[in-house]
Amino acid sequence: MKRALVCGAGGFIGGHLVNRLKSEGYWVRGVDLKYNEYGNGNADDFVIGDLTDPVVCKNVLEGGFDEVYQLAADMGGAGYIFTGENDAAVMHNSALCNLHMLHAAQQAGVKKIFYSSSACMYPEYNQLDPENPKCSEESAYPAAPDSEYGWEKLFSERLYLTYQRNLGITVKVARFHNIFGPQGTWKGGKEKAPAAICRKVIEAEDGGTIEIWGDGKQTRSFLYVDECVEGVRRLMESDFSGPVNIGSEEMISINDFAKMIAEISGKKITIKNIPGPQGVRGRNSDNALIQEKLGWAPSQSLREGITKTYQWISEQANKEVAELV
Ligand code: NAD
Ligand code: GDD
Repeated sequence: MKRALVCGAGGFIGGHLVNRLKSEGYWVRGVDLKYNEYGNGNADDFVIGDLTDPVVCKNVLEGGFDEVYQLAADMGGAGYIFTGENDAAVMHNSALCNLHMLHAAQQAGVKKIFYSSSACMYPEYNQLDPENPKCSEESAYPAAPDSEYGWEKLFSERLYLTYQRNLGITVKVARFHNIFGPQGTWKGGKEKAPAAICRKVIEAEDGGTIEIWGDGKQTRSFLYVDECVEGVRRLMESDFSGPVNIGSEEMISINDFAKMIAEISGKKITIKNIPGPQGVRGRNSDNALIQEKLGWAPSQSLREGITKTYQWISEQANKEVAELV
């Protein structure tokens, strides 16, 4: 039986990845600062631990592992990473998790390690035109990410690749593009646009108004979590190290996305654009490389994924209301 360690297993993507590995027959240990708040990711063993501590990193590897998936990071949506207030925490926590976990894995003789980078590492100068952003893998340099979160991701990508070059551990690096789905953060300040807009529509009356940050003409693409996990597993099984985009190529403006979610709700909703943290003007995945190297690319429509996500957030919001009564 193959053994996998999932770092960040108490989080959104980590929880889904644990489920996937279990369904493939792996023995899985999860590690995180917290348990998954929605009960997602039933690992065989779960350690509550802080991966900024090198002793914790060493100890969680006890028993030996074939594969490590390093997803632990201090992260959030635009309201968390673009305000500037969390920059020191993001860089300190995430860089230490990567430095110590990678080192411990290499020392422990782990054969393969996965690292979740982000589209936030791409240069801002290629993402100024909302209709025509460029995020092909080779466009990463000269580096100019628009957030400290993106700079940390770029540093860590390079860190992992040095360990592969100098120390012989096989490394896999993916650049995720805005992943969404059930069991994702949907309130509290770290939520990304898909969950935030679903929540706002759910909370609005029929005929009501929701607030959307920026002029709403900024563009993004969003990838459903099951396809993200599929991409991670395919990359792990391939002979390609990356870095490679794991994202959707279905680009949409934020106002059009809000209209799509309003339509799914069946409510008549007016959009009010207000100032707020925005990030780059445009972003879209470029899937030429993943298609070439893995013979696969995500294909599910945004509407299909966001319909399932809207349903799940509705259920969470209803549960909260029921608990208050
Ligand atoms: P998440 O916040 O739900 O999960 C990250 C987990 O890491 C959290 O549960 C958190 O408690 C844990 N963690 C943070 N610091 C830790 C520490 N010191 N020790 C142990 N655990 C710690 O985020 P997610 O959406 O599941 O993202 C997973 C990974 O993918 C992250 O590295 C993130 O940067 C990357 N990523 C995500 C997206 C996205 O859209 N969700 C996009 C690009 C990259
Ligand atoms: N979060 C959020 N909440 N965003 C909103 C809202 C809202 O209520 N209203 C409008 N937006 C706009 C933001 O201003 C931004 O321009 C756009 O929606 C997308 O915001 P997010 O989904 O929060 O983040 P992002 O796409 O800029 O960055 C995310 O994706 C990266 C990978 O592509 C983040 O989650 C990063 O952590 C991640 O690495």
